[in-house]
Amino acid sequence: MKQQLDEIRRQAADSLASITSASALEAFRIEFLGKKGRLTEVLRGMGGLSAEERPVIGQLANEVRSFIEEQIAKLSEDLENAALEQRLAEERIDITMPGSKRPLGKKHPLTSVLDELKDIFIGMGFSIAEGPEVELDYYNFEALNLPKGHPARDTQDTFYINENVLLRTQTSPVQIRVMEKQKPPIKIIAPGRVYRSDAVDATHSPLFHQIEGLVVDKGITMGDLKGTLEAFCKKLYGEDTKIRLRPHHFPFTEPSCELDISCPACNGKGCRVCKGEGWIELLGAGMVHPRVLETCGIDPSVYSGFAFGIGLERTVMRRFDIDDLRLFYENNLRFLKQF
Ligand code: PHE
Repeated sequence: MKQQLDEIRRQAADSLASITSASALEAFRIEFLGKKGRLTEVLRGMGGLSAEERPVIGQLANEVRSFIEEQIAKLSEDLENAALEQRLAEERIDITMPGSKRPLGKKHPLTSVLDELKDIFIGMGFSIAEGPEVELDYYNFEALNLPKGHPARDTQDTFYINENVLLRTQTSPVQIRVMEKQKPPIKIIAPGRVYRSDAVDATHSPLFHQIEGLVVDKGITMGDLKGTLEAFCKKLYGEDTKIRLRPHHFPFTEPSCELDISCPACNGKGCRVCKGEGWIELLGAGMVHPRVLETCGIDPSVYSGFAFGIGLERTVMRRFDIDDLRLFYENNLRFLKQF
C-alpha cells in the first residue's frame, strides 16, 4: 500500500507537469482526489490493514493528499496569472501611437465680426435685444412710419406669408418691440437676419444681416449719435478712422443720415476699394421720429433718441477686403479657412 501511495504521488507529479489549462487541471483533480479517484480507491483498502500499519499508512495518505492539493492550488494560480498576462498583452494599447486628428472648426467671418461688434457695444453700455424674423407688417412698416402704399416700401420688397405677415426686411421693427415693452432709458443693439426679394449677385442676397441700434432717453441729441458711432468706427476699423455724416432719408428717423468712414484700405486717398472716393458708406442712422416714439407710448416732448442700422455683410467685406457676398453662404472651406 505504501508503494501504491508513492506511485500515486509520482504519477500525480508527472501529469501535473503537462497540464496547461484550467479544465485539464479540474480533470486531474477528479482523477486523483475525486470520490472515485485513485487516492480514495487506495484508502478504501485500509480496512484490511493491521492496527500498527493503519496510522502509518493513514499519515502517508494524508501527506500525498496535501501534496496533490498544494500542487493543484499552485498550478491553478499560475494558470490564472498566465491567462491574465495573455489578456493584458492582447489588449495592450500603444500610447505612443499618433492619435487620430479631429479637425477643429472655427467661427464664420460673419459670426466673428458680429461677436467683435457686440463686444464693442456692450463695452459702451448697450444690451442685446431680439425680435422675430417672421414679422407683422405692422412692426416692419406701419409703426415705422411706412403706411401701406408708401413709396419707400418698394425698395424693401420681401417675402409675404400673408397680407399681414412677412419676413422682416430690416431689424428696425425690434426698435418698436423694445419701446412698446420698455420705458426709457433704452440702450440696445439688435443683431439678426433680414430678408429682401432681391436677386443674388456679388452685392445682393435675399438673406443678409443687420445690427440695429437704439438709444432713447431725456436730452439725447445728434451729438450723441455722432459720438457713439465715431467711437464704434474707431474701435472696429482703427483709431485714425474718420467719419462723416451725409443727409439721407428714412421714414422713421428725422433728421436722417448715412455715415461714411474714411476708406480703411487707402486711408482716404482714394483707391479701388472706395472707387476713388476716399470714403465708404457704412450705415444708416437718424434721430427717432417723434411720431414713432408716440406710436410706442413714449412722449416725444420729454424723450428723444437716435437709431442706426449696420449691414453686417458689408462691414465684414470692408474688413477683410472680400469682393463677393456670395462667398459667405457657399460653405466653401477654402474660403472659410482664411479667417
Ligand atoms: N433700417 C434701415 C435700412 O434697412 C437702416 C436704419 C436703421 C436707418 C435705423 C436709420 C435708423 O435701411
